Amino acid sequence: MADTPSLHDLIDLSGQRALVTGGGRGIGAAISRRLKEAGALVTIADRDPAAADTAAKIGAGFVSCDIADASQLSAAFDAASKDGALEILINNAAIFPTTGQIIDVEDDFVARMLDINVRAQFSATREAARRMTGGGKIINMASIVGLGGGNNISAYGASKAAVIALTRAASSELGRKGIRVNAIAPGVIDTPGVQLEMEPLKAGGLDVEAVIAANPLGIAGAPDHIARAALFLVSDLAAFVNGHVVVVDGGSTA
Ligand SMILES: NC(=O)c1ccc[n+]([C@@H]2O[C@H](COP(=O)([O-])OP(=O)(O)OC[C@H]3O[C@@H](n4cnc5c(N)ncnc54)[C@H](O)[C@@H]3O)[C@@H](O)[C@H]2O)c1
Repeated sequence: MADTPSLHDLIDLSGQRALVTGGGRGIGAAISRRLKEAGALVTIADRDPAAADTAAKIGAGFVSCDIADASQLSAAFDAASKDGALEILINNAAIFPTTGQIIDVEDDFVARMLDINVRAQFSATREAARRMTGGGKIINMASIVGLGGGNNISAYGASKAAVIALTRAASSELGRKGIRVNAIAPGVIDTPGVQLEMEPLKAGGLDVEAVIAANPLGIAGAPDHIARAALFLVSDLAAFVNGHVVVVDGGSTA
């Protein structure tokens, strides 16, 4: 047992450089907090200027970045790895505007969704793979709607299914470089983004809190529920976990 690492060592991320896209609020902010707590050197890349305040509170670096812009994305990676190789990418930034029924969805809408949620996440995975010269960990933020059907989610669901396929392919290719690639598929999580999306429905009388807690556990999914799974995946607790999709949804899709 002499060479069995302690539990503390398994979750210790001391000195590991981490880039979190969309870390300004919601799930990305919760993950940034946990990574920092585990000792990582965290850089948040977000297009919302308010994310700078979140970063300052957490003790993370901040780069103003729209991940869909190639030069801004590259600059974010430069900032996160200016003192050494990047080790962790949390590929989290995405949009989820209400899609509507397929018969009403226009090409421009689909193109915008896929550009941010798939093409830009692909670019970020590629950048990370090039820069993780000493190995690393990538988490792609998928969704349970990338795994199953649903109403009004066709474009978003397609984008998240693509993220899952990207995760699996990347894990096959990058394993020999010492890079593990996994995805998390959250269920409904109470974040500012979800609250904003539900605003019009709330006005129409929808009990948003009930929707958020509509899972077998009957509790609201919180950003930190996702952050705990992310911490597991980037830590050495998950040293042999690669190409996996961790569903964190209170059992909604069980
Ligand atoms: N909240 C949920 O119920 C839920 C469920 C399944 C999956 N997800 C996924 O989790 C991730 C985070 O969701 P959330 O609910 O925390 O979202 P959110 O809208 O609350 O926060 C998203 C953050 O990403 C940033 N962002 C968006 N587009 C960006 C871009 N192009 N470049 C840089 N930053 C950008 C926003 O400014 C914001 O700070 C997303 O990938 C989302 O699809 C969320």
